[in-house]
Amino acid sequence: VRSFASSHPDLRRSPGVASGGAGGGIEAIPARYKMALTRIGLAGLAVMGQNLALNIAEKGFPISVYNRTTSKVDETVQRAKLEGNLPLYGFHDPASFVNSIQKPRVVIMLVKAGAPVDQTIATLAAHLEQGDCIVDGGNEWYENTERREKAMEERGLLYLGMGVSGGEEGARHGPSMMPGGSLEAYQYIEDILLKVSAQVPDSGPCVTYIGKGGSGNFVKMVHNGIEYGDMQLIAEAYDVLKSVGKLTNGELQQVFAEWNKGELLSFLVEITADIFSIKDDQGEGYLVDKVLDKTGMKGTGKWTVQQAAELSVAAPTIEASLDSRFLSGLKDERVAASKIFQGDYSSGETVNKAQLIEDVRKALYASKICSYAQGMNIIKAKSTEKGWGLNLGELARIWKGGCIIRASFLDRIKKAYDRNGELANLLIDPEFAQEIMDRQAAWRRVVCLAINNGVSTPGMSASLAYFDSYRRDRLPANLVQAQRDYFGAHTYERVDMPGSFHTEWYKIANSKI
Ligand SMILES: *[C@@H]1O[C@H](CO)[C@@H](O)[C@H](O)[C@H]1NC(C)=O
Repeated sequence: VRSFASSHPDLRRSPGVASGGAGGGIEAIPARYKMALTRIGLAGLAVMGQNLALNIAEKGFPISVYNRTTSKVDETVQRAKLEGNLPLYGFHDPASFVNSIQKPRVVIMLVKAGAPVDQTIATLAAHLEQGDCIVDGGNEWYENTERREKAMEERGLLYLGMGVSGGEEGARHGPSMMPGGSLEAYQYIEDILLKVSAQVPDSGPCVTYIGKGGSGNFVKMVHNGIEYGDMQLIAEAYDVLKSVGKLTNGELQQVFAEWNKGELLSFLVEITADIFSIKDDQGEGYLVDKVLDKTGMKGTGKWTVQQAAELSVAAPTIEASLDSRFLSGLKDERVAASKIFQGDYSSGETVNKAQLIEDVRKALYASKICSYAQGMNIIKAKSTEKGWGLNLGELARIWKGGCIIRASFLDRIKKAYDRNGELANLLIDPEFAQEIMDRQAAWRRVVCLAINNGVSTPGMSASLAYFDSYRRDRLPANLVQAQRDYFGAHTYERVDMPGSFHTEWYKIANSKI
């Protein structure tokens, strides 16, 4: 019943801006062509919104679009015409926009997180009716989604918070989508999402119902945290190869292109290879060397780290990638410090280039396993706390395509959780455990080499320390606990008998018998 396009010839005519009534559109539609209702609406026509709307229209779902700034509407309608007369209809006022959508109405919002979302909801909700649904496709803080879902429920409206990853290209040709919230609302648009999302052969569309409440936003947030980790680890691999191995951009391009044929096959490694091939069109040399070494950020990485801390989940690799962005921002301070700490930091070791490239590849892969283990554990802990019942294997599956962290590696993660849904940590999955064992010598060589040459590898080092802490049956935590009991009487447990103990450490140490 929902497949709509074929039975409504009116909608297959050229797209245009409809007035939908007295509002005064650009191109009034003659009454005899009274427009059939569209299947879905989208509000917020920045590039992501435009692209997602065009994608939906292209998959055969007639769509209404709206933006307060009417030029955005006209621009989108124009693009729909140019990109193949797609069934997309523009509206300049919210009432005719909402009324152009078939009931129960679904409107996807793609606006900036925070206050703009509340404003857009207020605008839309004024015209929506019981049973209609609003979907927030932005990177929203999950608690905002939960607050809005409750407020909507009181008005008889359904709400979804849907993470969308893949950037502008993904939105246009197939993103990875993480919808959470009302299951009823999800089911109503599932047919659209299944077609619009990225399609991975033998694995299916990159979308699934994530879970209740703000789980879709939360999962998208951690996805971004993992993305920070991946990007940092790749940057460190680049730094070691360039600063210690003395590889040229040409060589780096070849190395990353080669890596992209193996276990590291991924979008981020692929674009990294491309970046090394681009010459500067404003001068000599390569563009990458002219890019200022300052990384921006929008907040999802920081949220991920804050959530890890809230949940008492160790996420040192993701934290290291966030810290690296903070330090990158201190460009002036770093330039000044580099003058104070001048000197030759090269260890003088001779490096075998071919061996180094192999080692760095292995170090990158092993570090990546640790980073994903941390991200998945953040999600798992939150799922337990909130009772979301999230399926970690399914999350890995829908990240296999469309999104920024898409990689063949995610298939291995999915399989690990398929083998054991209750896996305490990815590291101990038999396959990943073996992969780490096979790579740890190389991993240690790379981190040592970097340290000896004064090249920081915070992500790789943090991953290695995470592994070395996790795999040891005894840590120096006994001493920390003894200190706590010494100065604060926090008590301790013993390895050899049950119970809680306190010792008068000071008295005993200082009594002269
Ligand atoms: C419309 O466009 C403007 C500017 O491009 C943007 O700031 C605004 O949030 C958009 N969304 C809606 C729903 O009007």
